[in-house]
Amino acid sequence: MSKILVTGGTGFIGSHTVVELQEAGYDVIIVDDLSNSKAEVVDNIEKITGKRPEFENFDLSNRADVLNFFLRHKDIDAVIHFAAFKAVGESVYKPLEYYRNNLNSLMNILESMKFAGVRNLVFSSSCTVYGQPEKLPVTESTPRLPAESPYGNTKTVNEDIIRDFCAAEKEINGLALRYFNPIGAHPSSLIGESPVGVPNNLVPYITQTAAGIRKELSIFGNDYDTPDGTPIRDYIDVVDLSKAHVVAIRRLMEGKNKSNYEFFNVGTGRGLSVLELVNAFKKSTGVDLPYKIVGRRAGDIVKIWADTTLANTELGWKAEVPIEQTLLNAWNWEKKCRGIR
Ligand code: UFG
Repeated sequence: MSKILVTGGTGFIGSHTVVELQEAGYDVIIVDDLSNSKAEVVDNIEKITGKRPEFENFDLSNRADVLNFFLRHKDIDAVIHFAAFKAVGESVYKPLEYYRNNLNSLMNILESMKFAGVRNLVFSSSCTVYGQPEKLPVTESTPRLPAESPYGNTKTVNEDIIRDFCAAEKEINGLALRYFNPIGAHPSSLIGESPVGVPNNLVPYITQTAAGIRKELSIFGNDYDTPDGTPIRDYIDVVDLSKAHVVAIRRLMEGKNKSNYEFFNVGTGRGLSVLELVNAFKKSTGVDLPYKIVGRRAGDIVKIWADTTLANTELGWKAEVPIEQTLLNAWNWEKKCRGIR
């Protein structure tokens, strides 16, 4: 059976993808330095799938360690690269840390893949590369815009590094998935999103408020050019998103890719405003959610959602989990973490 290296495999999207890969019959080895996740995630993955993924703890921005890893593991068939720093706001204050970590890790992996003869890479990109697009929904031919943050720029530059590397190294296949807003948790409530400190993202803030850890949700602005005045995003269930990685890996390993560098939008195709999401949460969980409207958050775009035609037709992938179920899964995960019945 094929073995997949999942970097960042104990993180939010990484851990769910490990589960889906194992359930599709792949063997998995995780590399993660646990800088933003916990080793017990490996135990919980094993509880879900009945199979323990291999795990190594080291920092992928260390070139010698990455080369050494590939020397010790000659059975790897493909790589899914999630490991990265991901806090938009923090990246503004610590740009060098973001560039050093996010760019060096990818370059070390690509170099080692070439050295070890590993041909297939799936990369974790983001709709942040589109900035605020003029036309919606965004297709893959929508132009990328200058990034709003060093974090966003690492996604754009990493896409370019893969594109250029694949142009030079014809035997290597790269495929970038541009995620919209990943939310939710595994229906088992054994894995989910675990932000450190005060959450930046909307859904963890909502579930922590519902759990009584935060007093109320602050909605950052209701004077945007949208029907209810709050910003619109395309919220994609993390299990659906994880399944997109499985089909991407299969596509590369079966040689079905149309060129050796491809990229796809991964969203639902449906935009929801902040208020619509808050209402969907209340409806699906029955839990009240105190909120107040405050000023806009710097750097927020007004609205974005995906055209998913290419992923639907080329990858044969489509988002399936209804938003109510996704929010219920996120709430069940929060309750489990907090010991709420
Ligand atoms: N929001 C609030 N209150 C909060 C948190 C968020 O009103 O407490 C609003 C934001 O203003 C925004 C929406 O909820 O309108 C979504 O915000 P998130 O922080 O959850 O997500 P973003 O769209 O800002 O960012 C996400 C990822 C980034 C990625 C980006 C791409 O977190 O990593 O999508 O657009 F780069």
